[in-house]
Order: sequence, then C-alpha cells, then structure tokens
Amino acid sequence: MANNLTVIVLAAGGGTRMKSKTMKVLHPLCGRSMIGHVLVAVQAVQPERIVAVVGHQREQVSAHITSLVPDAVLAVQETQDGTGHAVRVAMESAGSTTGTVIVAYGDTPLLEGESLRAFAEEHEAAQRAVSILSGVVETPFGYGRVVRNAEGDVEAIVEEKDATAAQREIREINSGILAFDADFLAEALPRLSNDNAKGEYYLTETVRIARDAGLTVGAHVIDDVMQTEGANDRIQLAALGRELNRRILTRWMRDGVTVMDPDTTWIDADVVLAEDVTILPGTQLLGATVVGEDAVIGPDTTLKDCEIGVGARVVRTHGELAVIGAGATVGPYSYLRPGTQLGARGKIGGFVETKNAVIGDDAKVPHLSYVGDAEIGEGTNVGAGTIFANYDGVAKHRTTIGRHARTGSNNTFVAPVTVGDGAGTGAGTVVRRDVPPGALAVSAGPQRNIDGWAQQKRSGTPQADAAEAAASAERDTSHEGRGEVGKSGPGGGES
Ligand code: UD1
Ligand code: CA
Repeated sequence: MANNLTVIVLAAGGGTRMKSKTMKVLHPLCGRSMIGHVLVAVQAVQPERIVAVVGHQREQVSAHITSLVPDAVLAVQETQDGTGHAVRVAMESAGSTTGTVIVAYGDTPLLEGESLRAFAEEHEAAQRAVSILSGVVETPFGYGRVVRNAEGDVEAIVEEKDATAAQREIREINSGILAFDADFLAEALPRLSNDNAKGEYYLTETVRIARDAGLTVGAHVIDDVMQTEGANDRIQLAALGRELNRRILTRWMRDGVTVMDPDTTWIDADVVLAEDVTILPGTQLLGATVVGEDAVIGPDTTLKDCEIGVGARVVRTHGELAVIGAGATVGPYSYLRPGTQLGARGKIGGFVETKNAVIGDDAKVPHLSYVGDAEIGEGTNVGAGTIFANYDGVAKHRTTIGRHARTGSNNTFVAPVTVGDGAGTGAGTVVRRDVPPGALAVSAGPQRNIDGWAQQKRSGTPQADAAEAAASAERDTSHEGRGEVGKSGPGGGES
C-alpha cells in the first residue's frame, strides 16, 4: 500500500447466539477459525500493524490470534460499549498511528485480501476521511443503512433501531468494514456519543462527523456481499462453510483438478492440489493435506494433514499425518494413523491399519493387518492377517523387517524383533526372536490330530453330532469300499 496501513479487527463480542462454550470467532470452517480466515485476508494486504480487539473469553481468543499472527497488537475491551468504543480501545493500544486505518470484524470468514486491497486503494486515491465498504442486499434488516442525499453523496449510516420507516427501505447497507484517515479517526473517536437506541458508541457516527466537518466521505459497493457476511449462529456458520467450500472447489477446478461431485466434497482452505488430481465423491481433504499430480482420491476418503504422491491411488480410506509415495495404492478400507509412510509404488490394502510405520518402495501390506511401530524394507511382502504386536502392556516396541522379505499369512511379530533382508516366515508364525537374513522362520509345531475329540469332550452338542455323523458316514463308505455290501445305512444300495 502507498500509505502505511493499520488494520483493526473487532472480536470482543460474546456471540451468544452460537450457544457455545467456544467463542464465536474461534468456530472453524474449512479448516480455519472464522478469525483465522479474516487474518489471512488482512495479512494479504501487508499492513504495518494488525490490532485485534478482544473482550469475551479474551485468554483463548488472544492466544489463538497470537498463534496465527505473533506480532498482532491485542487490545482489551473490558466492556462491549459499541464498535466506536472498541476502535477507541484499539487506537489507544496501537500508539501513534498515521496513514490509513481499516476496521474489520473477526467473524467474516469469506473476506478476501483482494477486496480489502481494492477498498483501501480507492479510499486513499479519493483522499477521504471515511470510506464505507457497502453492499446492496435483499433483506437489509438489522444492518446500518447507508443514507445518501439527492446527489447520491453519502451522508450518514443509520442503525436499524434508530432508522425512520423510510430509511429502513434502503437496501444499501454498511458491511461493517470501514476505512479512515488515521488523523481524522483520532479526532473523531472522542466525539462519539452514546445517545442512541442501543446506548452504545457507534463507530458509524464518524460518517456524520466527517460530513459536518466538510470532509470527504464515500462508499464502495462490494458486488460479492457474502465476503462481508458474518456468522452469528450455527445455521449461518454452516451456510458460510458450504459457500466457502464451494469457492475453494471452484478455484481448484479452475486450476485443473477434477471434482466429480462438488456437493459431497470438502476441501479445507490450506489444502494444496496439483494439476490433474481427481477427487471422487464423499471425500474430505483437511488441514495441510497436499496431493500430487494425477493422484486419484476417493470415493469416501478423509485425509487430514496427509501428503499424497504423484499418481497415487487412495480408495475409501481414513488417514491422518500419513505420507503416501508416488504411484502407491491405499485401500479400500484402510486406516492410516500418524507416522505412516508408504514408499513409491507400495501398497496398503483392504482392512489394514498402520501407525508409525515406514513401509519401503514397492513393499506391500495387502490384506487385513495391523502395522504399528514398524519399518518394512523395500520390495517386502507382508502376508495376509499379520499383526505387529508393538505393545507389551507397558511400553511400545519396534519391529524391523528387511528388504525383499516374504512373511507368511497370519503372522504375529512380537516387538522388539528384526527380520533380515530376504528372510521368510511360514504361515501362522509367531516371531519372537530375530530372523537372520535369508532364513525361514517357522514357529508352529507339526500338526497333531486327536481323533474323536469332539464326540468325547463335546458330547450332546451340534458339534459332536456333526462329527459323529461324518465319522459314521466315513465308516460306511470304507466298508463299502471293501465290498461288504448288504450292511444297512443310507446310500448303502448298489452303485
Ligand atoms: C454493526 C454496524 C452496522 C453494520 C453491521 C454489519 C455499528 C454501530 N453498526 O452493527 O452499521 O451494518 O455491524 O454487520 O457499528 N464489537 C466489539 N466490541 C463492541 C461491539 C462490537 O468488538 O463493543 C464487535 C463484535 O464482536 C462484532 C462487531 O464488532 O464482531 C460488530 O458488532 P455488532 O454488535 O454485531 O454490530 P451490529 O449491531 O451488527
Ligand atoms: Ca452483527
């Protein structure tokens, strides 16, 4: 910006209509708090200084703002005596302020930096004392109305409760975002009165003060009025959330991402997608998820803070803090927990859960397994139904499997244990001791059959009856086989 710029964000109000223990501006949509979205827009115009006015639940709100914008100035408004009072508190905390001051609200999550920039530039170019970012709406109820004279010049903002019947017909409203010449603002703030229907110090009264002093005042009508809409309750929060999601999807589709069903796809504001990514229905990409070119995600997949490689395929999966390599495949029905890392062309298949698991390039865990606290070398195949028993009831331990190993179905790796490169294990092995490279580990003893066990130990049960029927049929056939015809019994005729 040409002049130095201060942005004041008002966030002291209680937001009681949320009916929540969480402050209104902290409610999230598309992966960021409402005020988080506003602060991103504000930072995009690179102001010299950001001042946030906090009041209700100031500890949580202040901590949140500081975590997002460490050098934001926090101004505490002890009692919410109106927007004019809030800005006075902000200016006192800001210290000496020159140039332009923009006032915005902390609950307008669709606000874009570009709109603030255009507004500030017009304000400065016109050398106004006050500029209003106004909007023309169908139902202006509740908003301050922008009152213009016969020439169309802005004269005042009149609040709903103070408006005449004729003024209530005006559909041009004050969005709440105002720009000021800092010197004018400093002079006007002490002159605000609270002699109005709400008994508050209205910031909007500055318009009248500027006019009376013969200073320039103007309004810039924003076309995209949703950018300045606030969410006061959870119904509006959901509506703004859906709209913001729609805008995010639209931007990605313009940038070359296929979204098969925008109505059931949710993408957070901070997600990054490459060209030719395809997103199938019922998919949520959340947090700081990054997806590489040509990857296909979904259907019915939720990924939070995941990194998906070029050309990877992730089907019906729930994942968090997982890194999936290029050309790898995941799913269907996989559960990727934090610390999962799958190498290039690797596979995590159906009904597999992974956690703190580094699985190498071309390595596969195809079926029905739990892989926790493990390292699996490149090219290794883990048999179906394998459990990495990482927890001894007290502490967690790691399992390491080398390169190009082949482990049998239904194994249990009792950690800590190491299986060497090129080693193998038989089906049903419980691996408690290290397996040297190239060795085959088998732990199940030779099979022993105890004849007639069911009939003896389970007599009178369907199990015993079934066993007895099979045994007697077996006896009959073996008799027939020996030519002892004439014995009675089912199927005992000539054949
Ligand atoms: C305000 C405007 C109105 C505008 C509308 C747009 C005034 C007098 N009125 O009305 O012209 O059309 O916004 O939504 O400015 N806040 C504080 N401290 C306070 C009071 C408010 O921080 O003492 C914050 C609130 O948290 C909120 C914002 O300022 O984020 C607006 O306050 P609110 O009471 O909702 O103003 P409105 O009556 O809606
Ligand atoms: Ca309001």
